[in-house]
Amino acid sequence: MKRVKRTVGLLLCVLLLCSAFGGHVSALEADGAWQRYWPDYIEDGSAVYMAPGATESERNFSWYAPKDAQDCRVVVSEREDMTYARTFTGSSVVTPEGDRRCKVTVTELWPGKTYFYRCESGVWRSGVYSFSTLAGKEFTAMYTTDIHVSYDEEDAANLMNQSYTFSHVLENAADKGALDLVISAGDQASLGYRSEYTSLVASPVLRSTPFALCPGNHDRKGIAYKYFTNNPNEYNRALVHSLIARDYWYVKGDVLFMVFDSNVGAMTDHRNFVKQAVRENPDVKWRVATFHHDLYGGRIPHRESENALLRMIWSPIFDEFRFDLVLLGHSHYYTISNAMFGNKTKQSLAGLDSVTDPAGTVVMVSGSINRPRILEDGAEPPVGENVAYSYLTEKPIYNLLDFSQESITIRSYEMDSDEPFHTFTITKTDAEGGHPANGRDFYDPFVRLISDIYGWINEVVTTARFRLHWNDFVGK
Ligand SMILES: [Fe+2]
Ligand SMILES: [Fe+2]
Repeated sequence: MKRVKRTVGLLLCVLLLCSAFGGHVSALEADGAWQRYWPDYIEDGSAVYMAPGATESERNFSWYAPKDAQDCRVVVSEREDMTYARTFTGSSVVTPEGDRRCKVTVTELWPGKTYFYRCESGVWRSGVYSFSTLAGKEFTAMYTTDIHVSYDEEDAANLMNQSYTFSHVLENAADKGALDLVISAGDQASLGYRSEYTSLVASPVLRSTPFALCPGNHDRKGIAYKYFTNNPNEYNRALVHSLIARDYWYVKGDVLFMVFDSNVGAMTDHRNFVKQAVRENPDVKWRVATFHHDLYGGRIPHRESENALLRMIWSPIFDEFRFDLVLLGHSHYYTISNAMFGNKTKQSLAGLDSVTDPAGTVVMVSGSINRPRILEDGAEPPVGENVAYSYLTEKPIYNLLDFSQESITIRSYEMDSDEPFHTFTITKTDAEGGHPANGRDFYDPFVRLISDIYGWINEVVTTARFRLHWNDFVGK
């Protein structure tokens, strides 16, 4: 009976799935150096972007190129003068604006090296930048979410200021030591416009650090995300997928990162994607998921029915494939859950700063960069019984995640603060950790089937909406 009620709830909740609302604190104002940097960056317009490669021996690049520049190359050298270079070629796609987006994968990178690179298309040359590969399995990633770089018709400086705010946070993180990866859990843009993604990657920190993106509900208000990204290991066998994104995975250190498009509720496809990623990486110890929609820490009453639905369809995947850590966004409220199993608290983590072999999955949500939320818009102070720790601030938040083979340490900072406001360490003594075995439920296939039907209907409607409003977002 309980399952039937949940299913009815699922059907009633579908209309809420794409809900979003405002209520935010504004960005920093760009300083003089950024105001001088900005016009040249926009004039160049290439928006060079480096994503993680399939493994540490690869990097994925993309950039805008003129319509007639069909050749896309990344030149890579171990020397700053670019001698003894190797050239990698790729392909390009024609954008809705009529120019091209080049997509090139650089391969055969050796561990523990610094590489210099330059992107080229036609007669255009980027500057020479550099990145380094890991020497071992340990690394530090910055995790953030809901960056919300926003196009504003009324305020021409908004993109510059919000881009500056994100860059400032990236500089904060880079000042604290080696930064090997940046992870975002979606809503990088607000309207999904090309100008927002160009502004998103303006920071020089991102020329040297791979930046793993994830589609949020705001990213699919437009179409630019699809052209902008160049993700590794995209899952192309999904029966239901959105117009802008595919699930994808990459491995760094001893961590298998799986990134989902949670705008699409069709769980059979998401599960098949995980099965494939895990099958191809059986010996990788840690499993980390990133997707956009919050599950346990929402604080937003009118979204609770949507969250209940999402918990029901996502938690079986965490259990079955023993995910260690799940990184989310959407609510703009910082929370860390208890160790979750069976969509319930299996082990309370409240009051702790570390746990060894947790009996389930830890689910984390960070705050927004350009739209930090305080208690307003009907948000309520108490958070759910499954939340171990929560934090409210008007400032942007970022998190440094120190990955080693034994542990993941999370250090969470407010912008411009030297000391973390929260730290938490998850240690695993072997690959399974404390995850209970047999995370499958008799009713899971039925719930997945309902989610597949809903997902398919939702994508048909969303695709039709895109086609109808195509001219509203092209060129912005
Ligand atoms: Fe958001
Ligand atoms: Fe969102």
